[in-house]
Formats: sequence, structure tokens, C-alpha cells
Amino acid sequence: MTRVVDVVVIGSGVAGLSTALGLAATRDVLLLSAGDGSTPWAQGGISAAYGEDDPLDHLHDTEVAGAGFCDPRNVRALVEEGPQRLAELIAHGARFDRNGDGSLSRTLEGGHSRPRIVHAGGDATGAEVHRALLAALDRSSVQTMTGRTVGLLQSEYGSVVGVLVETGSEVTQIEARAVVLATGGIGNAYLASTNPSTVRGDGIALALRAGASLVDMEFVQFHPTALHTGETSGQLPLVTEAVRGEGAVLRDIHGRRIMAGRHPRADLAPRDVVARAIEATMRRDGSDHVWLDATAVDPDVLRKRFPTVLASCARIGVDLLTEQIPVAPAEHFLCGGVRTDRNGATDVPGLYAVGEVAATGVHGANRLASNSLLEGLVFGRRVATALTLDLPAKDHGRARELPLGDDRDPERIRTILTRYAGIRRDGAGLNAAADELESLGGGPLATVARAVIVAATARQDSRGCHWRSDYPHSDARWDEHIAVHLDQEGRP
Ligand code: SIN
Repeated sequence: MTRVVDVVVIGSGVAGLSTALGLAATRDVLLLSAGDGSTPWAQGGISAAYGEDDPLDHLHDTEVAGAGFCDPRNVRALVEEGPQRLAELIAHGARFDRNGDGSLSRTLEGGHSRPRIVHAGGDATGAEVHRALLAALDRSSVQTMTGRTVGLLQSEYGSVVGVLVETGSEVTQIEARAVVLATGGIGNAYLASTNPSTVRGDGIALALRAGASLVDMEFVQFHPTALHTGETSGQLPLVTEAVRGEGAVLRDIHGRRIMAGRHPRADLAPRDVVARAIEATMRRDGSDHVWLDATAVDPDVLRKRFPTVLASCARIGVDLLTEQIPVAPAEHFLCGGVRTDRNGATDVPGLYAVGEVAATGVHGANRLASNSLLEGLVFGRRVATALTLDLPAKDHGRARELPLGDDRDPERIRTILTRYAGIRRDGAGLNAAADELESLGGGPLATVARAVIVAATARQDSRGCHWRSDYPHSDARWDEHIAVHLDQEGRP
């Protein structure tokens, strides 16, 4: 079966929904969903500058957290356009928490110089954003389809001209003038992640197959505080940084503060700094977790602000209000991805990318807390505007299928990436990872894993969330970005 539309958007998180909604009035759009991605799980909020001087401060905080490796023009777009996108989200019906005087309640997270993070339902911001955008989608002309995208269609002249979607046992061919990847990150390429299992890095593998370049793939961010449930694989519950924003502190298993004296912002240092300190502490103590201590925070504040975290804690029998809770870092966010310009265009005509799957350079070497929902809103709109103004011309070349394929041993791939490309890396481990991946075929997870390993091996310095124990310092010789492409044999 074949369908024809103007634009196919793959992914129904904040980036995909924002793109599709932004195009609804002008284009015939089909939104493909293979299940909810990370958006509904986002807790902390949306960082949105306010007042006249805050965009500049937000820009500065983003660049500092990004270890000076951000694209400043794109960060400017992010922080300047963010407040308007937030206002539109509220107009769509999103309900954010407010103060007694009706103003938006704003909190603090790691790396922020002032409280600018708006939140909903206490710590259920992603769920509320997702709900509001899905409600807007229902009111729009956007068509939707549930199924996994199992391949792209590429014209003999190089343009991407459609997708292959699997629904049950049937594969549907959809022709489009533009295909937008909004498939999120790579959580499922690691054993444990804060992402749901639907987040597999398919968009990364699809883009590579079509000839697009990836960039900054070594910058995989680990959230410092996933709840330590005892499970070592699958999706782990997040404990939002906003808990530390309200005054909680990290302690080692002996009860000593971890972050005091390590960074001027202590427990609210940028995420990479905190995750690294926790990893070093766990290694030193031979422990599989540290403690997050919120017992000095007003219990009424904790109850009101963190119902999701409290419920996760209750499920493992701990109480955030009265006792320390066990936490450990887990894979959380890919700062790099498919290289795009500021309007989502990749190196391949007809192929666009937006949100976590895209690398616009706004996160540099380490994303600032709560900039991810913001990125989806801002760049989703930018892609929509670009495709409203200028849809690629129809390419009449003969189309061939670029199938995604299957992974031979997904668990083995996850184990390799977790072991060798976690918070701490070194050349010997990365070489071992490359060797072990050799026999694991060319499925999507293997492709993603190879891309991370290739980039992490090439970067012989440490910055942001890429930390190599054999090159522990940032080195100006590595100020360039590392791009990854497929070689002649179809490997990154
Ligand atoms: C958090 O609430 O700590 C996560 C938010 C984010 O990933 O930016």
C-alpha cells in the first residue's frame, strides 16, 4: 500500500508534535508514532528566560554547562524564542504551576544562575506538555499513524522521498517531499536509562543509512540521580534535579557531602560535573549508589512539588520526606546526533531532524537542565516554518528502499556500550568495544553503538559529558567537532 503526503514526521514527543502542529495549517502532514518517547517522563520542567536581561543569562548558563562547545547563534535562537513558544503552549491549554499571585512558579536546577524553570503538576511537566500537545493535535488536521518506521525511501538523485512503516505484519510505503526525524535519543542502546524502551536511536541509524552525518556522538549525558531500584537494566525512575534545587544534597554511603567544596555551585553544579563526582565516589567506596538527602527540606514543599518522585520512592519502600534515598547516574540524553542547520535540514535533501535526535549545537558537550523540552518547542517550530516557506521540490528519480534491519544481539550491544562508553572511558576500553561490536551486525542499535564508540575513541580529551581517564583534560587541539559517516561497508 502507498500513501502520499507533503511531510512525514517520525516521532510523537514534544519535537515531533511541535513540528506537526506548526505545519498543520499549510501542509498535508502525517505524524508517525511508535509509542510514547521520553517527553511524558520529563520531570523538572522547561527553562524559559523571563524579563529583559534573562535571555543573556540563560545563554551564558547554557554555554557554561555545554563546556564552551555550543553553537552560540543557535543557543541565541533557543533562549530568545523560548518564552514565545512557552506562551503558545499555555495558549494550547498546558497548565503550569503558579504562585499565589498567578505568576508562573519557577524553580532552579543544576547549572542555572537563577530560577527560570517552569513546571507542571509539581514534577510531571513532560506529561502535561505531552497532554496539551496531543489535545491540540486532535483539534488539528494532522493525520496520525501508529507503527515503527523500518526504512527510508531515497531517490536515485539522493533525496529522501519517503518512509516504510510497519503496522502489524504489513509494511506501508509513504511518499513525502520531506521526512522529519523526531525520534529522540538512544536510551535503549544502554542497559539502564531514564528513557522508555521505545527510545532506540532508530532515527540516528536511518539518517546514517541515507548518507547524513552525525556529530558530537561522544557526548552522552548521564543524569546524576536515577532512583537506585536494584534493577540494573531497563527504564529507571528519574529523581529530578529540582529536588536538589529545593535544597536536597548528595551524600556518600558514609553520610559525607559529595559536592561540597567540589564546585562553586555544589549540588547544583552542571549535570556532567555532578554525575562524574558520583561515579568517582561510587568507585572509591565500591558502592552501587549514593544517597540523596532531602530530609532538611520542608515536607510540605516536597509533597507539593514532587508527587512523581514520592510515588517512585514508595514503590521501592523508601520515603523522601524522612530518609535518604538511594540514587545513581543513568543514561539520560544524547547531546549530539544528526547534524542539522538551525532549521532542521540535514546534509541530505528532503531529510530533517529535530529535538534530541538532532545536533544543532545548542547543548555543546553537556546539556543544561530543562533545555530539552524547550529545544523541541523552539526547533519544532523552526522546522515547521522552514517547510511552510519552502517544501523541497518533488524528486522524480527512481526510489530505492533503505531498510533499518534488525539487531543480532541487542542485550550484548547494551552491555558493551554501558561497560565501555559510560561516564568514564579510556582508549583500551573503547578499542575493546569496537572489537566486540565487530561481530554484532549492522542493526540500528549496533549502528548507534558504533557511532558513539567511533566518536569517543577519536576525541582524545575530556570535556562536558565525555570524560576519558587517559586524556583527563580539555585540549584546544580537540576544539573541532567530530563527525561520523558510514564507510564503504556501511559501518560508522
Ligand atoms: C530533571 O528534571 O532533572 C531532568 C530534566 C532534564 O533532563 O533537563
